Amino acid sequence: MIVLGIETSCDETAAAIVTGDRAVLSDLVLSQLEIHRPFGGVVPEIAARAHLEHLDSLIGRAVTAAGVGFHDLDAIAATAGPGLIGGLIVGVTMAKAIACVHDLPFIAVNHLEGHALSANLAEIVSFPYLLLLVSGGHCQLLIVEDVGRYRRLGGTLDDAIGEAFDKTAKLLGLSYPGGPAVERAAARGDVGRFTLPRPMVGRPGCDFSFSGLKTAVARAVETLPAGPLADRDVADLAAGFQAAAADVVDDRTANAIAAFKRSHPSGESLVVAGGVAANQVLRTRLKALAARNDLRFIAPPPRLCTDNAAMIAWVGIERLRRGLVDGMDFAARPRWPLESMGAP
Ligand code: KG4
Ligand code: ZN
Repeated sequence: MIVLGIETSCDETAAAIVTGDRAVLSDLVLSQLEIHRPFGGVVPEIAARAHLEHLDSLIGRAVTAAGVGFHDLDAIAATAGPGLIGGLIVGVTMAKAIACVHDLPFIAVNHLEGHALSANLAEIVSFPYLLLLVSGGHCQLLIVEDVGRYRRLGGTLDDAIGEAFDKTAKLLGLSYPGGPAVERAAARGDVGRFTLPRPMVGRPGCDFSFSGLKTAVARAVETLPAGPLADRDVADLAAGFQAAAADVVDDRTANAIAAFKRSHPSGESLVVAGGVAANQVLRTRLKALAARNDLRFIAPPPRLCTDNAAMIAWVGIERLRRGLVDGMDFAARPRWPLESMGAP
């Protein structure tokens, strides 16, 4: 089985070709970072135009790099939501067009399902597992019972954790995107200098909150001398923020593990996915937490954690295996909660 995956839901134009035995034959990601950098965030209209401009040739390159032809493909899978509607329409329309021309099935993929199943591309992960999905747009804890069967335990009440990293980076004058920049700065910082709040820690349940932490960083910046921040201040604040964010994630995930063990005693793994899962401090904390609870800790390699099309192609494979293909009338959805997916 060979599937072409297309991803255009945010600011990465991506195309990949993956086989049923988990071989990633090609995996191309064209980042729009430089285009959006002057604006300090993704501009939806500009993103959609950039996807439109590059997707066609990127798919051509992905097919060539995989050493296959369109006639070798078994299906075309594209992210159909959630995300920025302009980009989603570009990817879905392209996928449908290729599917029509080559008489192939079209599969509309939920981007979050892509992240949820991405670990399976790196290794075999048995269902059910507990998933912590941490990205720029999402922050939630879910039980993955099977392909298409997700039970949400909790999520953020305000900002996603990646958003908090990005906003903190902006406050500290660090480059966009903020996550990697904050992590680099934090490595040189003193965690103990700034005491920042840990929203929700100690409370029951699995919800998150990050807006108070971000505001606390802003207040701390105001106490420092006006003008550009000193390197030391940036590093110490980044370290303080990252430690607080890690404490929040650790605490909420511990509650989720307890709930998971009660409802699914046979579950064996904690999987972390999404762009923020690239953070090494967070990974180390979660690994220790999983070990304390006798769970396997699985984190896909960073390339699979951030947005990519290999994970979309993989969902395509899993859905095609179950006969779950979509009609040409399937419309892109800016909002598409994972737990609303119909069970296969
Ligand atoms: O999954 P992703 O590529 O896109 C979304 O679907 O949101 O995640 C991007 C997010 C951004 O907020 C970025 O700052 C964050 O992931 N991120 C990180 C790191 N690398 C990326 N956050 C913390 N530490 C990192 N090393
Ligand atoms: Zn994503």
